[in-house]
Amino acid sequence: MSRRPSGSTGAPRRNSSPETREIPLAHDIVMPGYSITISPGILESAGIVVHAAARAHRYAIVTDINVAARFGQRLLESFDPLPAQLFTFAGGEEYKTRDSWARLTDDIAEAGFGRDCAIVSLGGGVTTDLAGFVAATYMRGVPVAHVPTSLLAMVDASVGGKAGVDIPAGKNLVGAFHQPCSVIVDPLVLESLPRQELRAGFAEVLKHGVIADAPFFDRMARAIPQLAQPGGEAGHAMLEAVRRGIAIKCDIVRRDEREEGIRAVLNFGHTLGHAIELVSHFAIPHGEAVAIGMVLEARLAERTGVAEQGTRDRIANALAAAGLPTAVPADLSANALIAATRADKKARGGTVRYALPRRVGAMAGEESGWTIPVDDAAVHEVLAGR
Ligand SMILES: NC(=O)c1ccc[n+]([C@@H]2O[C@H](COP(=O)([O-])OP(=O)(O)OC[C@H]3O[C@@H](n4cnc5c(N)ncnc54)[C@H](O)[C@@H]3O)[C@@H](O)[C@H]2O)c1
Ligand SMILES: [Zn+2]
Repeated sequence: MSRRPSGSTGAPRRNSSPETREIPLAHDIVMPGYSITISPGILESAGIVVHAAARAHRYAIVTDINVAARFGQRLLESFDPLPAQLFTFAGGEEYKTRDSWARLTDDIAEAGFGRDCAIVSLGGGVTTDLAGFVAATYMRGVPVAHVPTSLLAMVDASVGGKAGVDIPAGKNLVGAFHQPCSVIVDPLVLESLPRQELRAGFAEVLKHGVIADAPFFDRMARAIPQLAQPGGEAGHAMLEAVRRGIAIKCDIVRRDEREEGIRAVLNFGHTLGHAIELVSHFAIPHGEAVAIGMVLEARLAERTGVAEQGTRDRIANALAAAGLPTAVPADLSANALIAATRADKKARGGTVRYALPRRVGAMAGEESGWTIPVDDAAVHEVLAGR
């Protein structure tokens, strides 16, 4: 991470070319082929940063209608005088579909965007995934820059290059790896993020702490209750949550871009988390399901002798303090949950492999591809509260 020489922290000067405008003090995380710029207020200068990374002829900004209403115009103006245009879709997971992909690509083609364009996503993880997939396929692939606006998209979806859409057979089953040319993160946009969405992001931030950084986990466990209060997005602790949250994901993705090994650790909490989402028919949102999944999987790790005793309680306490649930609702049947873990992409050859912690700050299973096979009987016991 390096400090870039700064100019003013205010809005860009008008009537100047994009190259000569000043960028607020920014922290960059450098990835192979792109960097992630994190800075409060950077939204006003995002166009300059994108243009420096991808000198496209035109920029197609893909955003959901909700985020477009809040930030669309500001991002558009940051490109001025470069040609940029907004393309919107109705937001929400139910619109992360081939239909939305088709309509967006048709709209972008109809507007005359050629091979020399670049796509810019502005929004949560649904938008980064969908816009990334549009970019991966449009004219056989054009650059994509991400401007994530949800905490989850900042610390998770916008880095790593996974793009795609959902199909009736399951989530994210049609997609591509398409690395961004630039990721621009302005924590101040989190001010308007609904609190439930913010909590979902905290679940992933804490997950990153469990995976790789115990002191960060503890600092976040203490700070998160304040971060959820009005003004929390502007504080130093939020900047740290975002910056360290992203850095941990980046470290792992750098070591394993295509999920052939250590990238599997990012699935901690997600095997049972996805099962909970599925069995609840998505009544339990992703962040809450992952929070419950982390607690269950940490207990599973303790019971199978993988994790130090106390790991589960430490994780459960931090999640509870963040306002996240830590127990499975009684109406979800254990049999249905276990059946759902078998349908998950992480089930191979009849056994279900879990990414399990050794303790807060370190994952187990290095010698077995960073996942550990677990018997259904142990999962039953944990689901029964033992
Ligand atoms: N590609 C990856 O590696 C990866 C990783 C994790 C998650 N994901 C995907 O991310 C998606 C979930 O992302 P999400 O939770 O961000 O969902 P989302 O994109 O639906 O955003 C959540 C809601 O918040 C709104 N919103 C976003 N930013 C806002 C802001 N600043 N102010 C006000 N409202 C705002 C959106 O309009 C939406 O209604 C899932 O589809 C998941 O599969 C992808
Ligand atoms: Zn997740």
